[in-house]
Amino acid sequence: MAAYDIRIIGDPVLRQKARDVTDIDGALVRLVDDMIETMYEAPGVGVAAPQVGVQKRLFVWDIGDGPNAMINPEIIESDGEWTFEEGCLSVPGLSWEIVRPKLVHVVGRDLDGNEVSYEADEFEARMFQHELDHLEGTLLVDRLDPETRKEALATLRDLQIGAEPAKPSRGLRLR
Ligand code: NI
Repeated sequence: MAAYDIRIIGDPVLRQKARDVTDIDGALVRLVDDMIETMYEAPGVGVAAPQVGVQKRLFVWDIGDGPNAMINPEIIESDGEWTFEEGCLSVPGLSWEIVRPKLVHVVGRDLDGNEVSYEADEFEARMFQHELDHLEGTLLVDRLDPETRKEALATLRDLQIGAEPAKPSRGLRLR
C-alpha cells in the first residue's frame, strides 16, 4: 500500500505554485521517504510534492541510479530541443509528444542541505523539467499546442479523468 495517493488532474493542489522549503527536518525526510515509496508503488520515475498534496518545492526521482531527492530546484540553463512522448502519474494512462529543451542545468539542495548541480540531457533533462513544472502548477497538457490541448482535454473528459464537477444549471433545477 503506497504512502500517498497520487493526485489526479482536476485536483486544485496540482495547479498551485509550491513554496520554498525553509527547514530540512525529520518531517521533511519522512515526506521524502513516503514520496519515494509512492513513486515505486505507482510506478513512476519521478514524483513532485504537489502530486501528493504537499505545496513544497521538492521532488524525488529514480531513472535507474537509485532514489534521489532535490529541494528548491532551479533550472539555470537550458539548450537545444528534443521531442519525447511524455506521460504523468497525475494524468494516468495518457501521453503526448512534447517539445522541450534537450539539455538543462539544474541546481538545488539535497536532504543534507548541500548544494547539488546536475547537467542533464535527453530523458534525465526531460524528467527534471517535468518535475519542476509540477512545482509551478503546470501540467503536461499545458505544454501542448492549442489544438492538441483541446483534444487532450476532451479525451480526459471522455475518460472521466479529473472531470471538474459540473456546475448546476439554474434553468434545470428540479423542484
Ligand atoms: Ni507528472
